[in-house]
Amino acid sequence: MKTVITGSGIGIPGNAVPNDLISKIMDTSDEWIRTRTGIEQRYYADPGQGSADLGIIAAEAAMQSAGVGTKDIDAVIFATMTPNFFFPGNGPVLQARMGFPEIPTFDIRQQCSGFLYAFDLADSLIQSGKFRRLLVVGADIHTPFMPWQNGWDITIGRGDGSVTPEQYAENTAIRDRTVLFGDGAGAVIVERRESDDRGFMASKLYSDGSNIEALYMKGAGFRDRPFITHEQLDAGDQLPKMEGRAVYKEAVSRMPAAVRDVCAQAGVSVGDIDVLLVHQANLRIIEAVAKALELPPERVPHNIERYGNTTAGTLPILYHECVADGRIKPGMLLCFTALGSGLHWGAALYRA
Ligand code: ACO
Repeated sequence: MKTVITGSGIGIPGNAVPNDLISKIMDTSDEWIRTRTGIEQRYYADPGQGSADLGIIAAEAAMQSAGVGTKDIDAVIFATMTPNFFFPGNGPVLQARMGFPEIPTFDIRQQCSGFLYAFDLADSLIQSGKFRRLLVVGADIHTPFMPWQNGWDITIGRGDGSVTPEQYAENTAIRDRTVLFGDGAGAVIVERRESDDRGFMASKLYSDGSNIEALYMKGAGFRDRPFITHEQLDAGDQLPKMEGRAVYKEAVSRMPAAVRDVCAQAGVSVGDIDVLLVHQANLRIIEAVAKALELPPERVPHNIERYGNTTAGTLPILYHECVADGRIKPGMLLCFTALGSGLHWGAALYRA
């Protein structure tokens, strides 16, 4: 009995934002962003469009490609760190809006490793015999982290084309983070298949919370009373805090180690991997992971240049595009790997 992906889809918002537009509202440049990150553009959602909304677009496309309807899905796993509401999560939003029967929906929050964890959980639930077919969604929306009063409308073609020197300075103060992220969603349908060569093979998941401050959101947490204050907003505690270099170092060592571990567990060699799907956080990280594993660039696809980092969206979006354009073919050995806030990281092997 195997867990097999039988359909996939993506939900990408309409506003393509090239680096040059970002450089209109802060001190940055296309050259800096491309050289340090590989990102050329990202997509920003429309005002009022949340991660559940993008997830629904992806889910509808995935269900259509799998040829299934709402009555065919036993459960939903929705991975996001940016839900439409603080609570409940995106699962019930999607369940009601898509017209599912009263099926269980799980919301999980492993940030950039969200889809990897959701995929592993889906396999466990299928292997347990509890469910036969699941919808797995990874979606994130980063634009609400950004201070929109500071002229961010200009990036989606709605502002008047200029910011004040104060707004420019405030945007520049967070430029190391804001240039990295985009909005997007991906979804897959996974289902139980008897005696199928294809399917989920093995996974290794890890967490280490000893340095949460390397990448976290300080404000709007429930140890504070009230959990959000004007002082927090004034201090910018609603924005992600990131020690870029520290996270970079963790990513380029821990992802290759997880890939080696999962290959050892499954009894395959790293060189057998046909397509390594790496979380899209920075092209330099993706290249370093490929190099550490001695995999040639053609086996390590990327689309960060077009989407930036969409957090839980990156892996299902990349998977979907590689299936659609033939870079993933039946029989190929795939390895998914990710690392993100927590830290959470890991790797999963899958036979296409
Ligand atoms: N434009 C122009 N200059 C910038 C920008 C920008 N957008 N951002 C930073 N700089 C400047 C800095 O101010 C600094 O200037 P200084 O030398 O005068 O002080 C200089 O560029 C170098 O800054 P560094 O932070 O040292 O740059 P680095 O080469 O480390 O690149 C980056 C920064 C791209 C953030 C990198 O560290 C990185 O990718 N880290 C990992 C990020 C990541 O993977 N996050 C995890 C995913 S997110 C999740 O889990 C939710």
